[in-house]
Amino acid sequence: MNDHYLAFANSALGRALVEGLGLPRPPVLERYTAGQPAFSVGDSLIGMAPGGRLCEQAGHILAAQNQTVWILDQDPARAAIATCELQAQILRTESMEGTRLKTVVFDASGIADSAQLQELHRFFHPIIRQIAECGRIVILGQIPEQLDDAAARTAQRALEGFTRSLGKEIRKGATAQLIYVGIGAEKQMESSLRFFLSPKSAYVSGQVVRIHASNHLAAVDWRTPLAGKVALVTGASRGIGAAIAHTLARDGAHVICLDVPQAEKELRAVAEAVHGSAMMLNICDAKAPQQIAAQVMSQHQGLDIIVHNAGITRDKTLGRMNRDLWNMVIDVNLASEERINDALLAAGALRHNARIICVSSISGIAGNLGQTNYATSKAGVIGMVQSHAQAYAEQGITINAVAPGFIETAMTAAIPFAIREAGRRMNSMSQGGLPVDVAEAIAWFANPASGGLQGNVVRVCGQSLLGA
Ligand SMILES: NC(=O)c1ccc[n+]([C@@H]2O[C@H](COP(=O)([O-])OP(=O)(O)OC[C@H]3O[C@@H](n4cnc5c(N)ncnc54)[C@H](O)[C@@H]3O)[C@@H](O)[C@H]2O)c1
Repeated sequence: MNDHYLAFANSALGRALVEGLGLPRPPVLERYTAGQPAFSVGDSLIGMAPGGRLCEQAGHILAAQNQTVWILDQDPARAAIATCELQAQILRTESMEGTRLKTVVFDASGIADSAQLQELHRFFHPIIRQIAECGRIVILGQIPEQLDDAAARTAQRALEGFTRSLGKEIRKGATAQLIYVGIGAEKQMESSLRFFLSPKSAYVSGQVVRIHASNHLAAVDWRTPLAGKVALVTGASRGIGAAIAHTLARDGAHVICLDVPQAEKELRAVAEAVHGSAMMLNICDAKAPQQIAAQVMSQHQGLDIIVHNAGITRDKTLGRMNRDLWNMVIDVNLASEERINDALLAAGALRHNARIICVSSISGIAGNLGQTNYATSKAGVIGMVQSHAQAYAEQGITINAVAPGFIETAMTAAIPFAIREAGRRMNSMSQGGLPVDVAEAIAWFANPASGGLQGNVVRVCGQSLLGA
């Protein structure tokens, strides 16, 4: 579905008219295309609060960008990155007019009490107007629950409010995220920094991610991180599922595309385009879980990635909703996923360092009128992720979810016009996301180097006001 207003507001004529009338102009978001540099292109800034433990590692990762890296005069980051292969230059507050910062990383892990939160103001106040269009800000912190000191826990928790507000202020397609890095997970930040400092995270903002220490520190070729991996994507014949299939295949995976038999023609076309295979199956059939497990074992000797994307809506207010509509939605969106996971585990079909990635929804976080069945199922998906995370971690498997907001697909094209326009604009990007935005977040979770990401729910919603 095309967003005509976005296209018009960014045309030569439309731009003048929209600005003249004082209407909001949704920015054209930069998105990743294969072969492009991994990081967003432009000047970088790195900084830290005194006592930070993550800046040096971030400096090593930023060195891979091959771009100008700035540090503020007197910033403690200067000593921390001395060993990194960075050609860091000093950025003086009095002479930064005209500087446009594309990527900013601030290590806030040293902030140990509420008084030290002023470090956020010290660093961001002078530079916040210099953030480039579609710029990327990442704040690094410590997982509050891992800290013994109550004052430090309090201060680290406070970073969430700062990051989410920053995301709402920077506009122009720029994004801000908070990554809490657990004790011992310092070397597991790279896949997340590469995602959040690149155009791949175009429609993700105001998110909080936890990286835990993990034994699975896989070395990857960042151009094809999924080479040799086998992925299964449900609901792959169209919309978000088709985009996930394309993105995982771009990253090197063999993709098994699954959808209902009625969608065979479209499914085969997607499978062919991604050089993968097709599996026609209704995931709610009683035998489906065992069939899937048996087929992946016989044809591929197991799976590395399963993406539970298939989903349906059957919207009605509760008083008008019959039991069938309720049951159908819970079964497709939640119960079938639980059965498939159980069958794959029982058959030993999930390989070491495997990934289970679920597609929830902001409806499952905020609730939505006429969606008691859908929101229950999608909140249940979040519950499934959180309740299995620890047990799966012990088996070397990660489970995480994405929660899309308004994404331009057949599902959202069916929404009545006024509600659709509201859903599209009520976020920090003033527009809907594209299926590829969800797919990129899934590819980041799928990366073998993302073993420290466990039990996360990341919204791909342009920082929607719903459920914020
Ligand atoms: N589009 C959005 O804005 C949005 C927002 C939040 C969450 N989501 C979620 O993203 C996922 C994909 O959404 P979409 O917009 O691409 O939807 P879509 O309707 O375009 O695609 C869903 C696919 O799932 C398949 N499917 C449905 N039931 C199935 C079954 N029983 N067995 C096998 N396949 C089945 C369908 O045939 C279809 O190909 C869904 O889980 C949806 O709830 C979408």
